[in-house]
Amino acid sequence: MMGADDERKGASGRESMQISWKVEYSLGIAEMDAEHVRMIEMMARLESVDGRPDALRTVGKVINDLVDYVGTHFMHEEDLMEKAGYPHLERHREQHRVFAQKVYDMRSRASLDAHTVHQFLQQWLGEHILKADRDYVPYVQRWLDNRGAEGGLE
Ligand SMILES: [Fe+2]
Repeated sequence: MMGADDERKGASGRESMQISWKVEYSLGIAEMDAEHVRMIEMMARLESVDGRPDALRTVGKVINDLVDYVGTHFMHEEDLMEKAGYPHLERHREQHRVFAQKVYDMRSRASLDAHTVHQFLQQWLGEHILKADRDYVPYVQRWLDNRGAEGGLE
């Protein structure tokens, strides 16, 4: 009988690189969830490129796309946190800044293998959503709810 550990390993015996959306990633804030799903989809393009002749080009392309998208997403998220009066905005903004810089720096590295890049991205995004992003949810949700009740609350 195969255990969970065997199931995670691909034919190569190496741990699978698969990134997929997990239900616990859902924040319940539709626009943020949609953007996180989009990021995970972009990262998932790294799953099958290892060992292929165009692997390096694909990794470069994914990183370029992520640099653009991550910038837009983080701005959007920070804007929501700011409007919602989230008290730990600066700490959160710093986490975004450090990550964006790391992804940006990856662009200039010649020897990037898809597996390493994928693992880094997967780990960072998963942990970030589950901890840092989850922390702003009550604030942002309250702000969104009040905005929905526009005119009713002053
Ligand atoms: Fe975030």
